[in-house]
Amino acid sequence: MSTGRRPLVAGNWKMHKTAAESRGFCTALAELVHATAPVDVAVCPPFTALQASARALAGTSIAVYAQNVHEAASGAHTGEISAGMLIEAGADGALVGHSERRAAGDTDAQVAARVRAGIDAGLLVVMCCGESLDTRRAGGAEEWVTRQVREGLSRVTAADVDRLVIAYEPIWAIGTGETATPDQAQEACAIVRAVAADAVDPARLRVLYGGSVNPGNAAELMACPDVDGALAGGASLDPESFAAIVAAAA
Ligand code: PGA
Repeated sequence: MSTGRRPLVAGNWKMHKTAAESRGFCTALAELVHATAPVDVAVCPPFTALQASARALAGTSIAVYAQNVHEAASGAHTGEISAGMLIEAGADGALVGHSERRAAGDTDAQVAARVRAGIDAGLLVVMCCGESLDTRRAGGAEEWVTRQVREGLSRVTAADVDRLVIAYEPIWAIGTGETATPDQAQEACAIVRAVAADAVDPARLRVLYGGSVNPGNAAELMACPDVDGALAGGASLDPESFAAIVAAAA
């Protein structure tokens, strides 16, 4: 049964690819991804490759998201980038609260402020959440993810639903090759959707799974009723493997 939600497949490049490398990747990807496919596709290059990626993808249906955004419009924030700067570079969206950012110090309050700032500026915001292996083993995964979603959406209103996506990415599955089973992904994404229902219409909210998604496991993960797409890291660095994940969503 169709959910009516358009799938989204996003590739998080992390700290990979120069501007020159991103051009070649984007040109190759645009040839592999069919513009008519019923799926939204985005790449998330490092800040320095945003503009080159956006230019290489101009005229295609493939979007460009940043990997983070600061909550302030400007100011004394050395090393940070504002939503307006990202938009000027050609970004259509931004990840917020990726576990690697949270490990570097981003707090729930900052995530909430960045979600708000990104949406206000006109970006599509993909807010990431997910528990560690220790938290899962201790039986605390649901409570952990519930807190992250509740706090992260504390400044979101119902009108924001089309500018918001949540990615559930268990930390134990990120970059480890150990993917959540479809049952685990479904269970967690259903919890995310239920918690988010306090802020937005859950039937319209897109919830992604991330964590060692690859062309071999993408279809069964995205077939879960509460999984509306994927946030891929390692497997998004090669145009063919990323395009295969897109094809699995379509
Ligand atoms: P991975 O990364 O696909 O390499 O596990 C996913 C992510 O961190 O977004």
